[in-house]
Amino acid sequence: MVEMNKIAVFTSGGDSPGMNACIRAVVRTTLYYGKEVYGVKRGYQGMIENDIIPLYAHSVGNIIQRGGTILQTARSKEFMTPEGRKKAYESLKSQGINGVVAIGGDGTFSGARVFMSEYPDINYVGIPGTIDNDLFGTDYTLGFDTALNTVVEAIDRIRDTADSHNRLFFVEVMGRDAGFIALNAGLAAGAEAILIPETPTSIDNIISRLEDGKRRKKTSSIVIVGEGDEAGNAFTIAEQVKGKVDFDTRVVVLGHVQRGGAPSCKDRVLAAKMGMGAVETLLAGGKGVMVGVKNGEVALTPMEKAVKHHQEINPGLLRMMDILSR
Ligand code: F6P
Repeated sequence: MVEMNKIAVFTSGGDSPGMNACIRAVVRTTLYYGKEVYGVKRGYQGMIENDIIPLYAHSVGNIIQRGGTILQTARSKEFMTPEGRKKAYESLKSQGINGVVAIGGDGTFSGARVFMSEYPDINYVGIPGTIDNDLFGTDYTLGFDTALNTVVEAIDRIRDTADSHNRLFFVEVMGRDAGFIALNAGLAAGAEAILIPETPTSIDNIISRLEDGKRRKKTSSIVIVGEGDEAGNAFTIAEQVKGKVDFDTRVVVLGHVQRGGAPSCKDRVLAAKMGMGAVETLLAGGKGVMVGVKNGEVALTPMEKAVKHHQEINPGLLRMMDILSR
């Protein structure tokens, strides 16, 4: 086994709260084991451009509580080409780096897998950093908990104004093609309905549910629309419902507000477990795996599996949502 003396860490794809806490954990663990650690700026794009900097214990001081990522992030089109990956390989080699911790989502891991098949002398391990919670092999992805809390706080505020005006709000939340944010926020904020990509959406059902609620003297209604729902986005769905229920209607798209802000305590602890777990996995000779946390313990899953097998929506939570929202 080649000795691993230099480890690089980078963040890629959409940023998520807790990435900084995780970079800190990777840096401090690597230094603890007497190895050198580097930060790749702007994800794969920075790797291609050899934008790689040495990191020290002090480089990651006072970042545990900050949202975003000090290394910045990008979605690199050039890395999808063999030429781009060759440049990235040459950058890593020129710095003597042979272990890499990739913090990101499915796009990040898919890129890492192709890279490793072409350049097997570089060992990659992945950390699931995305607000979407859509990766198999971990109970939670890094940033999901914070994003959820942001969404719930926003919906609580929307409820205040909705109730004061007797209004119906359609609130669109992120998640790409996964409904975890919508479902959990729906339960936690007491929404009247949720629409998620994983289950078929019936506009007629939504209308009859909202009418039922009105009959039961509800003074406001909130429908959470998960991004990627097959019936459309919050605006198009609101258009289909408008006029068919006796509610003045408004639409709110929460957007990138969901990605920012200080990470929750839960995300910071998760970041520590994942960051430390990733370095220890690399130093033990591990590669091509995602370092998740299941039942509180570090759990390794082949990257291929983490990306291909989407985490399942919990049917028990769906049932709860259905019963409690009436
Ligand atoms: O994957 C995280 C995420 O925030 C998704 O929920 C969303 O679909 C996407 O990224 C938005 O990407 P961008 O920041 O490039 O607009």
